[in-house]
Amino acid sequence: MPRSIKKIGVLTGGGDCPGLNAVIRAIVKSAVQRHNITVIGIEDGYDGLVLPDKTRELTPWNSRGILHVGGTILGTSNRANPFKYRITVNGNTEIRDVSSDVVERIKTLELDALIIIGGDGTLHIASHFYNLGCSIVGVPKTIDNDIPATDVTFGFSTAVETATEMLDRLHSTAESHHRVMVMEVMGRYVGWIALESGIAGGADVILIPEIPYDIEQVCQKIIRRNQKGCRSSIVVVAEGASPIGGALTVLQPAVEGGSAERLGGVGNKVGIQIRKNTGIDVRVTTLGHLQRGGSPNAFDRLLSTRFGVAAVELVVNNQFGQMVCLKGQNIDSVSLINVVGGQKKVPTETGLVKTAEKIGINFGRQS
Ligand code: F6P
Repeated sequence: MPRSIKKIGVLTGGGDCPGLNAVIRAIVKSAVQRHNITVIGIEDGYDGLVLPDKTRELTPWNSRGILHVGGTILGTSNRANPFKYRITVNGNTEIRDVSSDVVERIKTLELDALIIIGGDGTLHIASHFYNLGCSIVGVPKTIDNDIPATDVTFGFSTAVETATEMLDRLHSTAESHHRVMVMEVMGRYVGWIALESGIAGGADVILIPEIPYDIEQVCQKIIRRNQKGCRSSIVVVAEGASPIGGALTVLQPAVEGGSAERLGGVGNKVGIQIRKNTGIDVRVTTLGHLQRGGSPNAFDRLLSTRFGVAAVELVVNNQFGQMVCLKGQNIDSVSLINVVGGQKKVPTETGLVKTAEKIGINFGRQS
């Protein structure tokens, strides 16, 4: 007989993505209306469990009208890690483990369980709290689509759609000016956004972290196109792409107990090299956070709603330490242990990469 659940907390951690509000809405509606459970929203990720006055009750009434709204009504943080929490004392920054305070806080708030919506970092922290005895259920989110054990994360489809639309726009101006247009998209360690938007948006070259690129192969492809009379080319580059034997392009290094390293700039590097090696005019666009903001598409609204409802079911059935996931057409769950620390990479010798190569898309390698 599962323990009866009366009150739960919900938080969103890490970088935002389209669909977070749709998950929150589904959690609130099903928990309150279906199971008579009180829902407490925790603001700004784990900060809301460390700092005072950062919780509020979520009701179907105050969670209305958010299904289509981007971002998260709870706020988020990709710096707050209670196991390595940055505290400033007398002007000096110290890193402290405040996890036991968080466990106490959960007790004080009388939360029978916590639903944690986040990417790898946030879910990793969630699994540590589960190991400390907290009743945790995870919901995977990220536009990068790099979380293992789920076929897809919400936010990804919208990001791919946004990037595809931007590529459509770049095509026309590229064609008018006979230019090479390079577009840099997000994707720290995996190239899903670059791959899918690149194929959908008719790119000629796609560079992803999983396939270190040879710039000569890229330039040869562009020159061949030019010789055939195609006077413009489109190159999509994931921010985490790197040349063979080369390193990631880091904009800002990681901060201990703070944010991860910020990537960015590889699009420019690639653009400069293409210009130098081919003599063709090049322009570079970095899509950045335009991919993360805005309204979720219908697919992401559906997936978010299914994840939110499934997370509440796991809580009601006391299946803690689990993360909801999508397997084929079905919603399922997996142990958080099987998720954290892993990365769902793009397969480089099968599937979409091979399909793309068969229609002539170049990945910075011979194919
Ligand atoms: O959500 C993951 C991600 O989109 C990465 O692809 C990107 O490197 C990162 O977020 C950027 O995050 P921030 O908001 O810290 O700039």
